[in-house]
Parts: sequence; C-alpha cells; structure tokens
Amino acid sequence: MKITVVGAGNVGATCADVLASREVANEIILLDIKEGFAEGKALDIWQTAPINQYDSRTIGSTNDYAMTKDSDVVVITSGLPRKPGMSRDDLIATNAGIVKTVTENIVAHSPNAIIIVVSNPLDVMTYCAYLNAKTDSRKVFGMAGILDTARYRAFLATELNVSPKDIQAVLMGGHGDTMVPLPRYTTVSGIPVTELIAEDKLNEIIERTKFGGGEIVKLLGTSAWYAPGAAAAQMVEAIVRDQKRIFPVCAWLQGEYGMSDIYLGVPVILGKNGIEKIIELQLNDAEKALLAESAESVKSVMDVLDNMNANA
Ligand code: LAC
Repeated sequence: MKITVVGAGNVGATCADVLASREVANEIILLDIKEGFAEGKALDIWQTAPINQYDSRTIGSTNDYAMTKDSDVVVITSGLPRKPGMSRDDLIATNAGIVKTVTENIVAHSPNAIIIVVSNPLDVMTYCAYLNAKTDSRKVFGMAGILDTARYRAFLATELNVSPKDIQAVLMGGHGDTMVPLPRYTTVSGIPVTELIAEDKLNEIIERTKFGGGEIVKLLGTSAWYAPGAAAAQMVEAIVRDQKRIFPVCAWLQGEYGMSDIYLGVPVILGKNGIEKIIELQLNDAEKALLAESAESVKSVMDVLDNMNANA
C-alpha cells in the first residue's frame, strides 16, 4: 500500500505522522511545493520510528509527482489556511487553482487512486478535485464530518465528564457555520444524549461545534491541525484496511436526500472501494430544513467556482 499526502503544512504533516505511527501503509509520500520542506518534515517523522517502534516509511518530495506514482490513496491538504476574520469561503479563488493543479498531477501518476480532500472551503474544493480528477465520484470525497463530529463529541465528553470514546454522533451538511449536528442521532454508550444533558446546554454545544474551527483560528491565528490531520488519517485507515466504517463524509449526491449534483456531508460506509454506500437517514422536518439550508449555502459557493471556471 502506498499513500501520498500533498501539502506538508501542519495538517498534511500531522496526517502523515498519524498514518506512519499507526502503520497504515508501508510507504507514505509527503509532497510539498516549497523546496526541501516535505523532505524535512518526512525526515523528522521517520526519525520518530525508532522511538515509537514502527516501520512505516515517510518520504518527502519537493513537487516531484513521479514519486507519488501508483498511490492507492491520496490526501490533498494543499492551500492557504484561514487567518483570523476570514471565512473558509474567502479562500476559494487561490485554493481552487492549487487543488486543480494538484489533482491533475495526482491522477496523471495514480489514475486509480482514491482522493480525500482536506483543503478549504472543503465542500467546494472537493467538487474542484472531482471536476479535475474525472473519475468515479465514489473515489473523490472530502474530510470534514469526522472533524466536526469529533469537536462535538469532545465538547460533550467535557460537559458530561465521560470518555469521548463512548460518544457516538452523526453530523451532516457543509463544513461551515451551517453544518447540522444531529442530537437525535447522538448517544453515550447507547443512551440518548438528551437523557443526560439539559436542552439549553446541548444547544450551546451545537453552536460551539458549528464555530469550532473558527474558535481555534481565533486562538492560534491560523487553522487547526491535530484533529484535522488525525481525521483524514482515520479515513485513509478505513479505506486501506477495508474497515467498512460509517463516517460522515463530504460526498457527491445523486438523488440521495432528494439532492443532486452537490458535494455535502452525509454518513457513508468507507472501505477499499472508497464510498461503498451513502446511508440515507430518515430525517424529520426540522432536520431536513437545516440540511436544505446548509446545502443552499454550499451550492452558492459551488456556483462561484462554476462561474470562475466558465470565465477562465
Ligand atoms: C477547521 C478547518 C481545518 O475546521 O477547516 O479547523
């Protein structure tokens, strides 16, 4: 198995580090456009192998896509991160150009690779990769739901003073302020969360989750990386080990949830073929309305990309 992570910034390097330490593949290529940067990060990661006792090899490359040849899974993290005051959508023009070039280079060397997009604005950059990869939509999808759900679960674990391992949740919609955490599908070791927490407290946590990325941007002056990197690595692991795990993933909808031609966060089964199934939940009217609102917001940014492409 061979995995490539494009972009050796904080998210990409963290993802490669998690993949290596969990021995998800024997070869991990970390590629970046900045001279020597990926090589440096890869060398540092490789030097943790004797300490952390693993043998997965991380190899750096300065923009030499020949080294990524025949990758099974590729994670695209390239692009500018947010600065305080910026929305993810502010990044669209710059990052669309970057994601397009990266995707073209990737498919030229690994036409069968499964592509996981992490660049922001997430839903639209996933669409951008799909347009340029010209491959099956089940093999091009985005990482957002695992991260957003992890934030939600972490906040709940703190509030309830229980292990985050025992919190199960589903969250849908775009990776932005309109994301839709679903309390009806949130349990703590099988106990509906609503039996353990007051409604106003739960609503506070839902609101905090929606702005969870922004909270970190404000604190750090740049966007998060430990949780995003680990979340992307968890998706790679589910594919490489054919785990058939159920995760919320940014997926191309063709009729599911009554929507078509849109990338949106929905629960899916992830295995060796990529998205093996999109799970359609029986949402109630209020949940459907929130999802529709989120879809509308994602679609408006997809339209910006379509218009940019039409005028290019
Ligand atoms: C976040 C960025 C990575 O949510 O989108 O932290």
